[in-house]
Amino acid sequence: MSVKTEVLKLLEGNRDKDLSGQEIAGRLGVTRAAVWKAVKALKEQGYRVDAANNRGYRLCDDNDVISAEGICLTLKEEYRQREICVCRCVDSTNQEVKRRALEGAGEGLVVLSEEQTAGKGRKGRSFFSPVGTGIYMSVLFRPAEEQSKDVVLVTTAASVAVCRAIRKVLGEEPEIKWVNDVYLRGKKICGILTEAVSDFESGRIDTVVVGIGINYRIPEGGYPEELNDIIGAVCTQDQVVPRNTLVASVLNELYGLYEGLSQRTYMEDYRKWSNVIGKEVRYSTGAGYNDQAAWEYATALDIDEDGGLIVRLQNGEEKVLRTGEITLRTC
Ligand code: BTN
Repeated sequence: MSVKTEVLKLLEGNRDKDLSGQEIAGRLGVTRAAVWKAVKALKEQGYRVDAANNRGYRLCDDNDVISAEGICLTLKEEYRQREICVCRCVDSTNQEVKRRALEGAGEGLVVLSEEQTAGKGRKGRSFFSPVGTGIYMSVLFRPAEEQSKDVVLVTTAASVAVCRAIRKVLGEEPEIKWVNDVYLRGKKICGILTEAVSDFESGRIDTVVVGIGINYRIPEGGYPEELNDIIGAVCTQDQVVPRNTLVASVLNELYGLYEGLSQRTYMEDYRKWSNVIGKEVRYSTGAGYNDQAAWEYATALDIDEDGGLIVRLQNGEEKVLRTGEITLRTC
C-alpha cells in the first residue's frame, strides 16, 4: 500500500478526531514530510482535509471523492491487484473500458467516472449521469473459452451484486425488475448495460463490459422532470456512507459471482428479490419499443436458471422471455 493510501486509511478510520502529522508519521513509520506530501496529493485528488490551527489532519465530513485508494480500503485483498481507474469526465465508462480492452487491458479492470457526457442505457437510450452524485462504473471481463456459454448470466449476477452491496452497506432492501433494473423504495436507482465484443476470426466473445449506473444522491436541483417519477436515489439526505464503500462492496460481490457464474448460486437471491414474479406485466415483443402494437400482456410466473422470465400469455400458453423489456401492468 502506498503512503497516500495508508494516510487515507488512517484519516477514514479516525473521522471524529484530529491526527497530528507526527502521530501519522509514527504510526506508519515514515517521515512527517512524507505525510505532508501524501495529504497534498489527496487534496489534489479532491479530498477535503481540514488542517486548521495546527491541530492535525482530519477528513471533512462531506468528503465523498471516488478514488482507487478509497475503494481499496474495503476491497477484498485478493482483488486489490486489479486495475482501478477513476476519471473526472468521460463520454461513457463502457466506451472507455472497450477502448482500454483494445489496448490490452486485463480481466477485472474497472473504470469509474464522476460524470458521463454520453452515458448509455439499454435500447439505445441515454443514461442521465450528472457530476458527483452517481456511481458510473464499468468492469471488464475476458471470458475463457469454457466460460463463454455462461457469460450471458453476468447481467443478472450484476443486479444481485448491487442488491447485496446495498443491503450490506446501507441496510436497505432493494428489488430487481427483470431483467436488470434495481429498485429501492419503489423507484429505479440502478441500471445495468452489458456489452460484449467478439473476436472476428474465432467468433468467440472475448470481451465483456458490465456497466453499472447507480443514482447515489439526488443532484442539486433534482432530477429532470421527465425522470422525477421514475428514478430515485440510494441515499437519503442523512446517509453519509462514502460512494467508495458501496463501489468496493459491489466489486467484491461481482468479482466473486463471476468466478462461480456457471454454478448459478445467486439465482436464488435474484428470484427472492424480484419484484415481478406473480405480477401482471406488459412485455415488448421486440418488434419496436415505441410501437404499442408490439406490447403484449402476460403473468410473470418465475425466473429460469438462465435468468429467462417465464410468463403465461393471455391465451394460456407459457413462454420464456430471454431479452426485451417489461413494465408492471399497473405502471
Ligand atoms: C439502463 O438502465 O438502461 C442501463 C443503464 C446503464 C448505465 C451505466 S452507467 C456506467 C456505464 N456506462 C454507460 O455508458 N452506461 C453504463
